[in-house]
Amino acid sequence: MKILLVGGGGREHALAWKILQSPLCKHLICAPGNAGIAEIADCVNIAADDIESLISFVQNESINFVIVGPEAPLALGLVDRLNALGILCFGPTEKAAMLETSKAFTKDFCTRHNIPTARYDVFTELADAKAYLGEMQAPYVLKADGLAAGKGVVIAETREIAESELNEFFSGKFGEAGSCVVIEEFMHGHEISFFALADGNIVMPLIEAQDHKRAFDGDKGPNTGGMGAYSPVPDFDQTTVELIMETILEPTVRGMAQEGAPFIGVFFAGLMMTNEGPKLIEYNARFGDPECQVLMRRLRTDFLPLLIAASKGELDKAPQPQWSFNPVANVVMAANGYPGAYEKDTPIKGVDAANLMEGVQVFHAGTKRTDDGQLVAAGGRVLNITADGSTIEQAITRAYTAIDQAIDWPDGFCRRDIAKQAL
Ligand code: AMP
Ligand code: GLY
Repeated sequence: MKILLVGGGGREHALAWKILQSPLCKHLICAPGNAGIAEIADCVNIAADDIESLISFVQNESINFVIVGPEAPLALGLVDRLNALGILCFGPTEKAAMLETSKAFTKDFCTRHNIPTARYDVFTELADAKAYLGEMQAPYVLKADGLAAGKGVVIAETREIAESELNEFFSGKFGEAGSCVVIEEFMHGHEISFFALADGNIVMPLIEAQDHKRAFDGDKGPNTGGMGAYSPVPDFDQTTVELIMETILEPTVRGMAQEGAPFIGVFFAGLMMTNEGPKLIEYNARFGDPECQVLMRRLRTDFLPLLIAASKGELDKAPQPQWSFNPVANVVMAANGYPGAYEKDTPIKGVDAANLMEGVQVFHAGTKRTDDGQLVAAGGRVLNITADGSTIEQAITRAYTAIDQAIDWPDGFCRRDIAKQAL
């Protein structure tokens, strides 16, 4: 099978690493990939959101199967275009991807299908939005409807702050995405990410992961794409999985099919574990990054047959995935200054040495090679240092030992407390 994997982050490096272990994979090409992916697969210099070039490439290269990593090409209808050409593809259509691209759609969908989520309302007028604050209690949760690169959510401690934030939403702080605003009740509880594959009708649970959204230790600093992850999450048991499947994921896949937008791909459910049970915070319609990296390291069985079965609507015939009981931690190394301004092209050494250390596997994110072969940083999040161990403590120790003793990148930083809460 000739496969095109779209994307170029740590998520895609981990997917490529896993897919290449499958006997079904004859040739893997990644667009655009990164320096780490280029060591194991072919890369083609097409951006993940360049739909026309991706479509031409797929046709010219006779690609049999396309796997879409990030959300941008989903939102731009890449899957719809591939479906029209009859090319097998893993990922939701533009309409099904609205579960990620429109928070208002998702909240209304939850109401229509009785899926537990925070009480909310949707506003397109500033005055109405401000008036609704009077019906809610602090802290106030304000969300731009559309994609806002993970920055479209504001938790305002006081009504005054909430009102001033609303002024900014409606005066274009998030562009179009902010002209429609969801205001919702603040949920108390522990936040967790849960993943499941869907084939349009059937949904198959994968596993949970814990991410670390804030830039600095102790959950301080600005929100980022994710500074680390680990799995399994202590106390997350089979009963919880069944509850999440019954109350959230199964009604979602049924509801999307009923509404004429069957969901094929991966559900990345952001959940709040509240006293009243799990509630949906948000959906993403793709794997999480850096969560995917820990999932791929824990997966012991071939992943490709599952992706193919989901894409063909045949998950009922697919083998159940088997997961390692060994915990995995992933520590993200980012360029100094991330998520703000940062320098590019700073040299990185020691990745090969890290990969030789027991239990360690480095996945690249924003990296590239210069003409003379030097590995350099090419983005904000740059390396994922993953490690497994017989305990989470051992996994954490291995990851940080690799960072401290092998990786030589003076212009990068990482959080020092990834997965510490699992101890
Ligand atoms: P989202 O982009 O919807 O996942 O929101 C970003 C983050 O804001 C979430 O990961 C939560 O930490 C927080 N958050 C969002 N909605 C709520 C809510 N209703 N109650 C409490 N925290 C929330
Ligand atoms: N780690 C969060 C995300 O992939 O959106």
